[in-house]
Amino acid sequence: MNEINYLNTSDSCVAPVSISIHKSSKFIKDIDIIKTNCSNILSPLLNQIFNEDCIDGMKRIPDGTIDAIITDPPYGIAKKNPLKGSSHGKVQTISSEWDIFGSINEFQKFTSIWLKECHRVLKSNGSIAIWGDRRNIFFIQPLIEKLFPKFLDLFTWIKRDAPPNITRRGLAASTEFCLIYSKSETGWTFNHDDIKKYNNGKQMRNYIDIQRTMPANERTEHPTQKKIETQLLLVEMLSNKDNIVLDPFVGSGTTAVASKQLDRNYICFEKNKKYFEIALDRLRK
Ligand SMILES: C[S@@+](CC[C@H](N)C(=O)[O-])C[C@H]1O[C@@H](n2cnc3c(N)ncnc32)[C@H](O)[C@@H]1O
Repeated sequence: MNEINYLNTSDSCVAPVSISIHKSSKFIKDIDIIKTNCSNILSPLLNQIFNEDCIDGMKRIPDGTIDAIITDPPYGIAKKNPLKGSSHGKVQTISSEWDIFGSINEFQKFTSIWLKECHRVLKSNGSIAIWGDRRNIFFIQPLIEKLFPKFLDLFTWIKRDAPPNITRRGLAASTEFCLIYSKSETGWTFNHDDIKKYNNGKQMRNYIDIQRTMPANERTEHPTQKKIETQLLLVEMLSNKDNIVLDPFVGSGTTAVASKQLDRNYICFEKNKKYFEIALDRLRK
């Protein structure tokens, strides 16, 4: 007897089912197929943040069921002994342990693992948006290119109020970048008109020029919290109402908050307990 644990229920959804095939049996009626609807399988996961490693957690998501993935993963730029300074206000480089990788090779190995899971769970016409900085985005791009056929854009966040370069031996880093790809050459969601509001009613450019400083009622203790505007823009651009948005590295919950505000469903992961709790707190408000 063969045990098969997965069944294609549509072209874009593989639902876990139980099928028992008696090899020797001539009776088709021996095949017991439990029909399962994709949305039923996903409902226990919807609108939740899981306090766990995303690589384990994403395994519970069936193939081809997510509409958009919008994420801000570890950048691999943290330092064990970060620079500190106060010449132009408070400046501190990132020291978070979750962002430290031994080498570019290790960073790319980690990135490849979670990217493959993202590719598996994304619908055939779904899109993925991944944040990075001016260096690490080039380590991520070849890995995305291998999996996702359609480059949609490299979106830039210009942060005019970024802190100075306290070493005075280089330029002040004032940008972040978001690579956007689709799993399919055609048919991706792109809500052109809905996102004009992020550019004073005109066609949205492939950059946003907004301060990194957050109002006190938005700021949390997360060291790399994204501004709600950037995540609202990406969620609104790449998904529709009632769609499912996945963020495997949700931190303080910004993508989940944006999805909730825009009537999208979300599934998120965050392995750090403190940030997980901050995220839950933000969602309760
Ligand atoms: C760049 S931060 C995300 C910040 C988020 N955009 C926000 O607005 O708060 C990356 C997050 O990924 C989490 N993380 C790192 N590795 C993880 C993993 N394997 N699974 C789940 N979360 C992870 C870190 O704890 C961190 O909070």
